[in-house]
Formats: sequence, C-alpha cells, structure tokens
Amino acid sequence: MIRTLLLSALVAGALSCGVPTYPPSVTRVVGGEEATPNSWPWQASLQYTSNGKWYHTCGGSLINNSWVLTAAHCISSSRTYRVALGRHNLYTAESGSLTVSVSKTVVHQDWDSSDASKGYDIALVKLANPVSLTNKIQLACLPPAGAILPNKSPCYVTGWGYLHTNGTLPDVLQQCRVLVVDCANCSSSGWWGRTMKTSMICAEGDGVTSSCNVRRGSGINCIFPPGRKEPHCSHSECQYCTEHPRLWVQPAC
Ligand SMILES: *[C@@H]1O[C@H](CO)[C@@H](O)[C@H](O)[C@H]1NC(C)=O
Ligand SMILES: *[C@@H]1O[C@H](CO)[C@@H](O)[C@H](O)[C@H]1NC(C)=O
Ligand SMILES: *[C@@H]1O[C@H](CO)[C@@H](O)[C@H](O)[C@H]1NC(C)=O
Repeated sequence: MIRTLLLSALVAGALSCGVPTYPPSVTRVVGGEEATPNSWPWQASLQYTSNGKWYHTCGGSLINNSWVLTAAHCISSSRTYRVALGRHNLYTAESGSLTVSVSKTVVHQDWDSSDASKGYDIALVKLANPVSLTNKIQLACLPPAGAILPNKSPCYVTGWGYLHTNGTLPDVLQQCRVLVVDCANCSSSGWWGRTMKTSMICAEGDGVTSSCNVRRGSGINCIFPPGRKEPHCSHSECQYCTEHPRLWVQPAC
C-alpha cells in the first residue's frame, strides 16, 4: 500500500519540488544550528491535541498538496492530529503559516512498534484539505527508487527535536549537518550490524553528534544523486537514541 503511494508520488515528481524560495544556509557548521526561516519549506509539524491544547510531536515532509510523510512511531491510532506548515517558531504567530486537520493516517503495514529494528518506520498523513503552495510552503522531492548515496555525502536533518538529552524543545526549526555512512560501514558489527537495512539511510553527526539528538519523524535532506538539478529530498526518520550513527528510512525501497 505505502509502496504504491510512494511510487505514485515519484511519478508526480514533475511537480516542482525541493527548491526553496529562501535558500538554506549550508555552511559546514558542526552540530545543530537554527535554520534560516522557511528554508526547508516542506517541513511539517505533526501535532496532537490533549485537553484542548495542541502539542508538537514529530516532524514530517510535505510530499504533495495533500500528503505528509512522517515516521510510523509518531502515529498513535487513539490521537487526533493536525499539521502545521510554513512554520519557523512553533510558539509565535507567523504570517504565511497554516494548520490543517488530518483526515487519515496510513502506517506502513509491516511496522511493528514492539520491534522497531525491523524497519518500516514510515507513515503517511492525509490533509483534510489540500494546501496551496506558497513561498513558505513547498514540496519535498522523494529520491529516485533505489538511489544510493556515496559514503560521507552531506545531508541535513531538520526538525524541532530536543537539542540535548533532557533538554527543552527548541521553539525554532533546527538543522543539523550529517554525513552518510555507506552500507558496508554501517552494517559492520561495530556499528549497526543487521539492523541496517538497504531500505535505510545511515548517517552520523559531522564531528559532534549530541546536537543532532532526537528529531522524531524528521526529514533528512540530501542531494540525490549528487549534482542533479533537484537539490533537496526528504526522508522520514527512524530514530535510535544511541551513540551509533543514526538510521533513516529511505522511502522508495
Ligand atoms: C499525493 O501523494 C499520495 C501519496 O503518495 C498519492 O497517493 C496521491 O495520489 C498524490 N496526489 C497527487 C495529487 O499527486
Ligand atoms: C534525564 O532525566 C532522567 C529522568 O528525569 C534522569 O534519570 C536522567 O539521569 C537524566 N539524564 C541526564 C543526562 O541528565
Ligand atoms: C568504510 O569507510 C571508509 C572511509 O571512511 C572506506 O575507506 C571503507 O572502504 C568503508 N568500508 C568498510 C567496510 O570499512
């Protein structure tokens, strides 16, 4: 089911995607940093309601006017969700941002919340009303099926995750430069071993990992393949809180 959905999104790839109006700052900052506002315009905030208030729970990526890609572990069937788009600071009113109700969630059929190491930590969220694209709300590109990034390719993880263990949630969108660890290295026994699947992207912090901490459901934005015209892609994150390099789900596998 999910596979079909993602493949159709690839066919729809003729839609403009991955080209932000406000370009991100892609200097080699070690660790995490505040993103340039609206420079990852497909970045979504998935929020749930509790006692009349809305809470950010995970990031997501807008892949077309009606669908946001996120991680399966972000979805609980008992919760009511909405999606905020065009945001930089989650706690102030921002012009050009909007919130949309969620009409349904589709979790990958093979996701097993009791054994995340199987993979498939990926889900789709359908917006109740299609959104119009603006200079602050734009589409992520999905990578070509089967594409593989070379070792040490730089990518950016973005989200409103915790900056440090037990830290407070940052108000403003963070970005963190990471480097791809190729399959041979990542699946070796000193690293992830068999947990690493070919459907995942493995990446590690660029020198300092602590600031790349929990970014649930975040996208990983890579140039895919290097040198191509569409510069940014997005993935849903599969989060593991260890010192190892992190693994991300690659949706088109
Ligand atoms: C949007 O993406 C979803 C999920 O991939 C797909 O089912 C749907 O057909 C797409 N819609 C458009 C208008 O491209
Ligand atoms: C984080 O908080 C938990 C529970 O409050 C505590 O047990 C743990 O030691 C804290 N970790 C750090 C690194 O401060
Ligand atoms: C791991 O990465 C290094 C470069 O950092 C590379 O030389 C090596 O071939 C890779 N593969 C393995 C299995 O170590």
